[in-house]
Amino acid sequence: MSAHLDHFGLSVEPFSKEIADHELWLPPSKKALVAELVEAVEARESVLLTGESGAGKTCVLRALRHALPAERFRLTYCHNATLGRRDFYRQLCVALGLAPSATAAAVFYAVSQRVQDLSQEHQHPVFLLDEAHLLHQDTLDHLHILLNYEWDSKALLSLVLVGLGDLEARLRLGRSRSLYSRLSRRLTLEPFTPDDTSAYLAVRLQRAGCDRELFPQDTVTLLHEATAGALRDLDRIAVTCLRHAARKKRKTVDRDVVATVLKNTAR
Ligand SMILES: Nc1ncnc2c1ncn2[C@@H]1O[C@H](COP(=O)(O)OP(=O)(O)OP(=O)(O)O)[C@@H](O)[C@H]1O
Ligand SMILES: [Mg+2]
Repeated sequence: MSAHLDHFGLSVEPFSKEIADHELWLPPSKKALVAELVEAVEARESVLLTGESGAGKTCVLRALRHALPAERFRLTYCHNATLGRRDFYRQLCVALGLAPSATAAAVFYAVSQRVQDLSQEHQHPVFLLDEAHLLHQDTLDHLHILLNYEWDSKALLSLVLVGLGDLEARLRLGRSRSLYSRLSRRLTLEPFTPDDTSAYLAVRLQRAGCDRELFPQDTVTLLHEATAGALRDLDRIAVTCLRHAARKKRKTVDRDVVATVLKNTAR
């Protein structure tokens, strides 16, 4: 067992990314965002979700997965956005359990056919395109065609594009406007507020078996300012602080420990 876990009486690594869907913790503002995503997908709409790196976008997708009833929704998660158009649709084919065909036209046909079959089976397909800011322009230019069923009169598929803030600016530009105009909800995942940061630290420590306040309030403020509400940075810095404090045999993570860690950590 790691020394800091032993020292603070923690049963597991408190700030690990290995967190079960049902254990994801959302402050009220993020709960509202997940609820809006659920509502959009229930209404068969397509969505754009943007936010800074490490703000918790992928975790929001996992919370969405957890919230949607599996019998009515068929979620397909695509995270390799760096592929060209044909390989992108091949990836979708494989994720949908189809044998990928050779030509671009054939893979596209297979995916859209599968979407129509799912609708016959009363399952609404949802394609979650993570890291969508990395999508090739030719893939982006083509995606709106995937949303076109029965002369563009049926909403058989929801696309959820997730990416960094500049994705929206890119979509607004000329060639991507056909897709952009079909993304009927454009949502932003805001960074954590100071209160969110404080509650997040407490919740994750509690889930790891510690009910004591390990980070005094003044250190929470320091951590919040240093991470600007980005969770992945907070995870990494918080665990480094725990290790340092354990090495110094401290009962809590004192201000001088946090200051030292922050001085030596690049964001
Ligand atoms: N709701 C949550 N509950 C608990 N932990 C969370 C939650 N959201 C995010 N985290 C923590 O923050 C880390 C970063 O979140 P996530 O991977 O979702 O960010 P992201 O916005 O997708 O970042 P990137 O743009 O770099 O992919 C996670 O690994 C997890 O440890
Ligand atoms: Mg992510």
